[in-house]
Amino acid sequence: MKSVRDANLEGKTVFLRVDYNVPMENGKILDNNRIKKSIATVKYILEHKAKIVIATHLGKPKGKIDPKTSTIPLAAELAKELKHKVNATDYLIDDSVKKAVGEMKIGDILMLGNLRWNPGEESNDVEFAKELASLADIYVNDAFGASHRAHASIEAITKNLPAYAGFLLESEVTTLSLLLKNPVPPFMLIMGGAKIEDKAGLIENLADKVDKILVGGGIANTFLKAKGEDISKSLYEPDMVDKCKELLSRLQGKIVLPVDSIYQKFENGDFSIMDIGYETRKIFSSEIAKAKTIFWNGNMGKTEDRQYEGGSKIIAQNITDNEATSVVAGGDTVGFVLNNNLEEGISFISTGGGAALEFLAGLKLPGIESLNN
Ligand code: 3PG
Repeated sequence: MKSVRDANLEGKTVFLRVDYNVPMENGKILDNNRIKKSIATVKYILEHKAKIVIATHLGKPKGKIDPKTSTIPLAAELAKELKHKVNATDYLIDDSVKKAVGEMKIGDILMLGNLRWNPGEESNDVEFAKELASLADIYVNDAFGASHRAHASIEAITKNLPAYAGFLLESEVTTLSLLLKNPVPPFMLIMGGAKIEDKAGLIENLADKVDKILVGGGIANTFLKAKGEDISKSLYEPDMVDKCKELLSRLQGKIVLPVDSIYQKFENGDFSIMDIGYETRKIFSSEIAKAKTIFWNGNMGKTEDRQYEGGSKIIAQNITDNEATSVVAGGDTVGFVLNNNLEEGISFISTGGGAALEFLAGLKLPGIESLNN
């Protein structure tokens, strides 16, 4: 994979693909981590006397222009973090954009409209990719979080321009590769969140390397169901019960499930599991204290509701107190850590959700493969 450091940038126009798919509410950015983490690459390109056409997707507008997914607030946030002017357009590729790019000067940045407003983005359309490529001389992918998508601005575009990796993408690949290749034992996976379906591949791929897999959140419910425990009205994935049974029998002694929970109780006696319980927190804490390498993805409870965030807080605190190499990934978990100012002591906060999970599951990511070829 060639690095942006290898590119001759001077006087060139760079198409910089970033992943600014950030959580937003009423046009307000709730977590700007992905934007902040792209700054090093943006600065480097500017320092090397180039122009930047920067582009991202945001949300799932499904090939249609939708003002709610405009990139203009993202450009404003980038300008604020970078302390540098960022022009923005609400168009993708049309004559006005081509004219604006043609008039750019060294040091200028122009952010395009949402890439997913064009259906060609998600269909990896060759013609759309050519149009995007026609705006620049060089392509840089710093969108690790979107590199598991074979989309036009991630994959097809690399057939049309010399393609390089940005610093964020490089650091993600380096850090996650360490977990795949050389994790210092004891290596602990802490898995939570809602869907085991998204995480089973990672658990299977890392099974031989990990010493313990601590499981909480909604995915623990499916494991508990697989063990035949009564989870009453708690959310679980019926289609994944057999997979959980198989994992439990194959990874005996490695998977640590909750022994108690914080419940929401209903009048008829039913209940729903909302967070890991106090005994479980003690067990998980003593396991985490032994770890030398930790990967955490997925919250332990329904953290949107503050009364159910205690389990996840303890996990974050334990990771912070431990000197192990620790990596946290996934939008909800990273958001939780950052919003609660618990990031101190965590070695690496990944910008990847699905991308990090697929990378650690051993899958080939189109965005990385196309830079390698
Ligand atoms: C993410 O937020 O994980 C990436 O930006 C990919 O987004 P997507 O799941 O909508 O493809």
